[in-house]
Amino acid sequence: MDVLASIKKSDQGPCVIRRRYTASLSLLLLALAVSACHEQAVRQDSGAEARAEQRRYQPVTVSHADSLANDNIYSMQVIAAPKVALMQAVGRKIFFDPAMSGSGKQSCASCHDPAYAYGPPNDLAAQPGGADLSLMGNRAVPSLRYKDRLPAFVEHFYDDDKPGAGDQGPTGGFGWDGKFSTLHSQAALPLMAPNEMANASPRDVVRKLRKASYAPLFRETFGAHALDDEASAFKWMTLALEYFQRDAKEFFPYSSKYDAVLRGQATLSADEQHGLEVFNDPLKGNCASCHTSKISIRGGLPQFSDYGVIAIGVPRNPQLTINHDPAFYDLGLCGPFRSGLEQQAAYCGAFRTPSLRNVALRKTFFHNGSFHSLKDVLEFYATRDTNPARWYPRIQSGPHRDEVDVYDDLPAAYKKNVNREVPFQPDTHGKARLTDAEIKDMIAFLNTLTDGYTVAQSGKVVARRP
Ligand code: HEC
Ligand code: HEC
Repeated sequence: MDVLASIKKSDQGPCVIRRRYTASLSLLLLALAVSACHEQAVRQDSGAEARAEQRRYQPVTVSHADSLANDNIYSMQVIAAPKVALMQAVGRKIFFDPAMSGSGKQSCASCHDPAYAYGPPNDLAAQPGGADLSLMGNRAVPSLRYKDRLPAFVEHFYDDDKPGAGDQGPTGGFGWDGKFSTLHSQAALPLMAPNEMANASPRDVVRKLRKASYAPLFRETFGAHALDDEASAFKWMTLALEYFQRDAKEFFPYSSKYDAVLRGQATLSADEQHGLEVFNDPLKGNCASCHTSKISIRGGLPQFSDYGVIAIGVPRNPQLTINHDPAFYDLGLCGPFRSGLEQQAAYCGAFRTPSLRNVALRKTFFHNGSFHSLKDVLEFYATRDTNPARWYPRIQSGPHRDEVDVYDDLPAAYKKNVNREVPFQPDTHGKARLTDAEIKDMIAFLNTLTDGYTVAQSGKVVARRP
């Protein structure tokens, strides 16, 4: 279902659900706080320079992007009957073609590099983009792998794999804030975003397509006149990108060592096995409660995400250009990069749980790219609430001067949204739940989630499919 439509239909107010969202004490106070805070979040600085900056980084909102990729896109196929293999071939060409950008130098693959599981190739918090590649992105680049079972965004999710657990709250959707329900509507955003591929219009993109060496392949795929009408050519293009991203071999190969283990073709080392146990232990890592590690009830290999959209209080990243404005907050689900849920105070600060498959290939972590090593990420989980001074700055002025500004990337009114369960919750002695040795073993385990493991490496006989 269309994201906007789903948002409009759910008018129930700040319906708080799921163990992960802390219930609000007073709706009235909350509503007052929300409107004040939201104003603060979107308030534009008075200086002319700040205004210019604000314009430059104006995000393409979900309503824009969805109007670019209309809903008739699947039904268009009835007439043209494009073959999947051809759509994938032409989608691949487009994905790797820098000519499809305003700069002429950036393709989808510049940010989503196949050598890094279609994630970022470097440790920058966000990638550069724009007409002369001088503008910084707003968020860290996610991997494009393992979106095969990602559900479209819903506010109320009932998880087959958590029978009886009830409403799991906001779940799913593409993007860190789950704002896109399909891969084709998503594809329109990077093509147009002024700080990404920065094309002027869909028409501009189609003009480039007509000149591409693979224009004949495009016509062969979608019909002899497929490039004549710009609006439909643009839609075909986003559909081709979608089909390319559904190529199982490229995007969900399930070829990690852990997959081999689950297929009975390999065994974990003692360290890896111990790491998995800590990862699963509800009183230790408790990671699997969000980053699912077991074969699903329907038999699917684990995704290492339950796709829940939730707030974990990642520290603010001052390196991001958008964060140079102290009044700006990326609040994820409640905006400003996504529209429609601004009034849902309990959603502010929530981001979609990423899959941990191929996470060891990453050099930048979390939606704002504020971390650069797995060790630091895991230590953050262990000590966020036992040693917050390690992660958050101190308040500079006012009555709370010198106190640690916990969850500093959230305005005060939304800090209560942050999840405080295990592993964050200190143990009964007020200590961190994870030791250095346990963290080391969990990293060993996370390394088994990288694709490209060959079964021969394990020295075991390959189990044949029944
Ligand atoms: C300048 C870097 C950049 C380029 C170029 C780029 N992307 Fe992205 N991509 C991102 C970032 C950053 C995000 C996260 C966006 C967000 O959450 O708001 C993202 C998210 C995505 C997602 C959602 C993934 C998820 O985990 O839900 C898909 C799919 C995607 N991009 C596909 C593409 C395609 C297709 C292209 C080319 C048409 C492309 N991207 C070009 C940076 C880029
Ligand atoms: C309550 C749900 C929850 C639990 C429990 C949880 N995570 Fe996460 N994890 C998330 C969310 C949500 C994000 C994204 C947060 C953001 O970017 O703001 C995330 C992000 C990550 C990332 C960064 C991945 C990337 O692509 O940037 C890693 C690594 C990670 N988690 C590992 C773990 C480990 C290891 C544990 C257990 C010690 C754990 N998580 C427990 C929800 C959870």
